[in-house]
Amino acid sequence: MLRRPRRNRKSAVIRSLVQETTLSADDFIFPLFVTDGQNQRVEIKSMPGIYRYSLDLLLEEIHQCMQLGIRTFALFPQLSESIKDTYAKESYNPDGLYLRTIRTIKEQLPATCLMTDVAMDPYSADGHDGLVRNGEILNDETLEILGKMAIAQAKAGADMVGPSDMMDGRVGYLRQVLDDEGFTQVSIMAYTAKYASAFYGPFRDALDSAPKFGDKKTYQMDPANRREALIEADLDAQEGADILMVKPALAYLDVISLLNQHYDLPIAAYNVSGEYAMIKAAARNGWLDGERAMLECLLSIKRAGAKIILSYFAKEFAQWQQKV
Ligand code: PBG
Repeated sequence: MLRRPRRNRKSAVIRSLVQETTLSADDFIFPLFVTDGQNQRVEIKSMPGIYRYSLDLLLEEIHQCMQLGIRTFALFPQLSESIKDTYAKESYNPDGLYLRTIRTIKEQLPATCLMTDVAMDPYSADGHDGLVRNGEILNDETLEILGKMAIAQAKAGADMVGPSDMMDGRVGYLRQVLDDEGFTQVSIMAYTAKYASAFYGPFRDALDSAPKFGDKKTYQMDPANRREALIEADLDAQEGADILMVKPALAYLDVISLLNQHYDLPIAAYNVSGEYAMIKAAARNGWLDGERAMLECLLSIKRAGAKIILSYFAKEFAQWQQKV
């Protein structure tokens, strides 16, 4: 035998020498949940190890993550039902929880990079991402609300906005209103291919944001579709997106790979709540080695072509890396 591929696997040193894909804490964006109050750290039942923090403890958590090398965070607010309304008005209230949180983080930990969420669902009494009229989720009418939200977030110090509602014309509209207000340096991460997925379940528990009626299939993509992701990517690129994202990650590795082949923009993937929950649940049952399953899944996302990974595993990964 002239060719023996096993030679490249014969020792740990050689294996690491020929390793094609590597992960680093720098690849990650860590999603964090903020809630009202003081001294609050409440674990999300379906996401062991992930908490909703009040602002005081959130600052400590971010500080710890920074020391582990994680510097970018995606923030989501959990609001009480009593503040939610049809128009998501709380989303641009400068004294509201979310905007206060952004301002305080940027004041106290200015080295952080903050990605903020631009969608109505955490603030909407309907639990939908857009404005609802007679049971219909409106596309264009929602834009003005999203514009106010994005500008308020940029004023509070957001480095990057993520319009996560998966509806049409978001990136172009937000780029224009941000530029008009002088925020030309605020980046946009496009939720380019976001699928109508069962894997968002635990996230909706975390925020109490499940839709009150119907589902999100008129705006999020059909899991059966791959070519359609190219249409979405074309639009987002033309509209001025800085980064293209695929969500969820693991059941859509082919879509990550497709976008990575067709576009020069950096590709991100959102390793969502249900993907995290599955591994945690199996590991808790002793059905698999949670740490190895985590590493294998994260590696697969990077190998598929994602440069950036949004993952609830970010901190655990960074802790593991410091250990080895
Ligand atoms: C909606 C939004 C979703 C997630 C973040 N923002 C999905 C949804 O509720 O439809 C899911 C993230 C996750 O599951 O980790 N704006």
